Amino acid sequence: MKSLLPFGLLVLPFALALLSGCCKPHKSFEPWSFVHVADIQVGSPRSFRFAPAWNDNWQTARRQIVPLNPDFLLVGGDLTRDGSLHRFELEAIKADLDSLPFPCHVIPGNMDTGNKHSDRQGARDDREDVKLNVTSEQLDQFASVFGPLWWSFTHKNLRVSAFCDMLLNSGLPREAELWQWLEAQTALTPAPHQIWMMHYALFADSLDEGNWELTDPDQYLAWYFTIDEPARSRLMQIFIDTHTDRVITGHIHCRKDHQVQGIAFDLAAATCFSQWDDRWPDGDPTLGFYHYTVFDDRIEKTFVPLENVSTRKGYGPGGHPKPEERDYGQAWDKS
Ligand SMILES: [Fe+2]
Repeated sequence: MKSLLPFGLLVLPFALALLSGCCKPHKSFEPWSFVHVADIQVGSPRSFRFAPAWNDNWQTARRQIVPLNPDFLLVGGDLTRDGSLHRFELEAIKADLDSLPFPCHVIPGNMDTGNKHSDRQGARDDREDVKLNVTSEQLDQFASVFGPLWWSFTHKNLRVSAFCDMLLNSGLPREAELWQWLEAQTALTPAPHQIWMMHYALFADSLDEGNWELTDPDQYLAWYFTIDEPARSRLMQIFIDTHTDRVITGHIHCRKDHQVQGIAFDLAAATCFSQWDDRWPDGDPTLGFYHYTVFDDRIEKTFVPLENVSTRKGYGPGGHPKPEERDYGQAWDKS
């Protein structure tokens, strides 16, 4: 026995090391998270209208997002109240987002550029639909502040693809380029998970609902909130061909979940104000944002309501006022 002891002492550490190596479990997937926010509509007291409550609400959301420590933030359009008119509003929110402690990826919404195209006046006489059509100049302005109008990146096990959907059915020169890029995404090797982000909802109630009639007062909002054919079906095919998990949209300001052909359509909340809260029995107009957790086999979403909703009063008209209704004499800040 005495002669074996030194040998045993020598072998034991190697045996233990081998044993621990054999029994070590495979490294498990570490879930990670990102945040999506939309329709923050941060405005300026230099404008003909200003809603300080909406700026307050964005600051509240921001304070709630930072401690979540997401890998990145997605902003799904309508960053500004009137960025389509005022470059300074785009620049201000860009500076704000750039100071966040994580990357931020942005697409424009109609308030940042201009609306989806219409070939005729709609049912509401408080706005001029054709004049609200997004223009190349407005898109140039947004791109000069924020960069590309469509983009894609892969982070860990997720590909995120997003684009300026006001271009769809517009006939603007950029639309053909956008379709070329969208179609090209279907040829990429799929990532384990794929999400798409756009501003308008692909549809209101069902994929096959057809185009809503903007001259019908009962259908105007459904038209205003959704993507018309033929772009809708073409986009859906791209979502299918890119093995999409989720499509996240904004613009409506009321949360609603749809599920079509295995794809989750997350109609997201706003932080500025709610709309269309009577459209669906299960629609939720609560202000807030989505916190997504990405696992190896799924993506889960959690809605985070704003901790506080501001009631500070501002000035000026809502909606899409006509040019003659923009009174800069009311501006709180005349610098
Ligand atoms: Fe919008």
